[in-house]
Amino acid sequence: MNMRFEPSGPLRGRLAVPADKSISHRAALIGAMASEPVRVRNYLDAADTNSTLAAVQQLGAIVERRDGELVIRGCGLRNAMAPGKPIDVGNAGTLMRLLPGWLSFQQGASFELDGDESIRRRPVDRIAEPLGRMGARIEARNGRFPPFTVHGAALTGITYELPVASAQVKSCVLLAGLVTDATTVAEPVPSRDHTERMLAAAGAPIERSECQAGGYTTTVGNTDELELTGVDVPGDPSSAAFLIAAGVLVRDSRLVLERVGVNWTRAGFLRILERMGAIVLADLEPAGTFNPHEPVADIDVRNAPIEATTVEAEEVPLAIDELPLVALLGCFADGDTVVRGAGELRIKESDRIATVVDGLRGLGAEIEALPDGFVVTGTGRLRGGQLESHGDHRLALLGAVAGLASEEGVEVVGMDAAAVSYPRFANDVAELIA
Ligand code: S3P
Repeated sequence: MNMRFEPSGPLRGRLAVPADKSISHRAALIGAMASEPVRVRNYLDAADTNSTLAAVQQLGAIVERRDGELVIRGCGLRNAMAPGKPIDVGNAGTLMRLLPGWLSFQQGASFELDGDESIRRRPVDRIAEPLGRMGARIEARNGRFPPFTVHGAALTGITYELPVASAQVKSCVLLAGLVTDATTVAEPVPSRDHTERMLAAAGAPIERSECQAGGYTTTVGNTDELELTGVDVPGDPSSAAFLIAAGVLVRDSRLVLERVGVNWTRAGFLRILERMGAIVLADLEPAGTFNPHEPVADIDVRNAPIEATTVEAEEVPLAIDELPLVALLGCFADGDTVVRGAGELRIKESDRIATVVDGLRGLGAEIEALPDGFVVTGTGRLRGGQLESHGDHRLALLGAVAGLASEEGVEVVGMDAAAVSYPRFANDVAELIA
């Protein structure tokens, strides 16, 4: 489905953005691993997180919808049932990489996971390797790609240094570590910590300390059962980022986004915007905070001129999903905006270095790809044209925001990709422009 986004008048008003995708996935998975029913308020109703609900139901959990909440009646930590057919993860990389952590210790049972065309291009060796060291066996297509099968086994604890700062891999190993004497994961730089927070809330023994490189070392150990009274999912900062960028770029805009998650491990984009001189006000969580609850705040955005900035490797995991928007902002900033150390972008739902650079260049941007990032020369404007989503939700939404800020509008080819995280984006924009 193609959709046109015309140059926009001011965006004004208050709005609640969709619920956090990362936290929703974890609420469904940890809810399914729990022994007592878990109530989840504000679960994200979008394609990716619906894949997770379907997956946990296939494994034996019961999901009830009640008064706008979900109640998940789990299987318990060690009692996932092997379904008779493959688990379809759809387009959801987070589901594909976290779920095997749980499945890997369902002794004697095997689980096949598969997904859509895009998921079949995304590597799983990054989880197969540590899970294999713990004692599970993973058989993947060409040793690296879905479809793949997880053969559950008795696991032993490991100490694992993440070769890349990936919250998905970290989370997978920590979930598997729940049935070992002790499993430690060290990350080179901090990445989102929703799994650690939710496990702590569920009573798992989890300890975290700062390591020399700047990241954290996290240890989990033997857990009899998980008990989570409830999860209240905040608004998704990564979805909010699209409206924040629109508010910064579209003349005379002023908008407030309500109850957005401001966990500091997700707030990298807001800090980048601060450096660019954008006027975005929010009560952010202090860096380094670790406690079981997820903080929320209203985010107040207004249109203002911006300056170029440089994003280096250590900041990348804290803003990984928002880096395409940094490229767009760079088109309007004074100077050269540079993103480096972000090679991980190449293995997202699309190769987000190639698709962002080609997509924005096609709209008139002066942007060059680097092996691990990009450089954008700000010209203060963007002509417009056509942008292909490549089936990647963040590309589709990038094209939409680019259209609002452009001179001639943007036609997004494949806007339906946005359904995995932000299905009602066009409606929300219409509400803010009215
Ligand atoms: C996610 C982690 C990030 C992010 C993805 C969601 C998560 O991926 O890009 O959209 O929920 O843990 P990586 O862990 O591969 O960096």
